[in-house]
Amino acid sequence: MSDFNYLEVQRSDDGIATVTVARPDQLNALNAEVVTELEAVATDLADDDQLRVVIITGAGRAFVAGADIAAMKEMDEEQAREFGRQGHRAMDAIEQLPVPTIAAVNGFALGGGLELALSCDLIYLSDSARVGLPEVGLGIIPGFGGTQRLGRVVGWQQARRLVFTGTQLSADEALQIGLAVDVVADDELIDEVLDVANTIADQGPLAVRRAKSVMYAGADRSLEEGNQLEIDAFADLWNSSDRKEGMEAFVDKRSPNFEHS
Ligand code: COA
Repeated sequence: MSDFNYLEVQRSDDGIATVTVARPDQLNALNAEVVTELEAVATDLADDDQLRVVIITGAGRAFVAGADIAAMKEMDEEQAREFGRQGHRAMDAIEQLPVPTIAAVNGFALGGGLELALSCDLIYLSDSARVGLPEVGLGIIPGFGGTQRLGRVVGWQQARRLVFTGTQLSADEALQIGLAVDVVADDELIDEVLDVANTIADQGPLAVRRAKSVMYAGADRSLEEGNQLEIDAFADLWNSSDRKEGMEAFVDKRSPNFEHS
């Protein structure tokens, strides 16, 4: 694992990695260094065959309060283009992690912070979370995928409203439009997310990885093509020890003991 200045990474023995963005004095705002580290951690984690779930959260009272506005203020067009490219690489690397990812949104998730959460497979919000894409108020647009991923999650009407108005939503309002799986009391967020992560980690690991890859690969294809991907993945899993163990355990009326294979 690389060394990080702005990320804390914990990896449990049962395959759950927790990545905490830790730049709390700036509410974890994403400058170029944090973005580089996010891409690097995703690259490192992608190589971990024993990995089951990744949790992303923020240190202190914010998840991530956005891209670093002070840094962006000094950029010229070329630097802005490169920052945008860099942000997209990082968000893509997180989205493409082979295992499920969960954003534990513990406070402000604005701009790049919401884009980071949207790059994860599941979003859980704490009571005090506030989410939005306020970029138009700065005279820019979301630059790390917000104009593309938000509508894919909540539908285009709500996404356009949020992007055009810059409105920030409370956790309950965000839940209402389908942005998150659930809202949890502030002091219970991490435990709740760890419960979900553990439940995922108890399933057949190869099956979970294939389910994620098929769902994403199918999302931008026709139903027919997506269904073909499903058939192939369904059959591919047949010779895995996980499939044999899962079915044998069911018949034997015991819990499965999945190998990491
Ligand atoms: N970029 C750079 N610095 C940021 C930041 C960002 N996106 N968000 C917060 N910070 C910094 C503040 O400048 C402040 O630093 P300082 O103590 O050196 O002045 C520190 O984090 C604390 O923020 P502060 O604004 O004092 O906290 P608050 O509780 O009053 O307000 C927010 C919290 C999130 C409402 C407010 O910080 C904010 O609006 N941030 C920008 C949100 C945004 O537009 N994000 C999208 C960017 S594209």
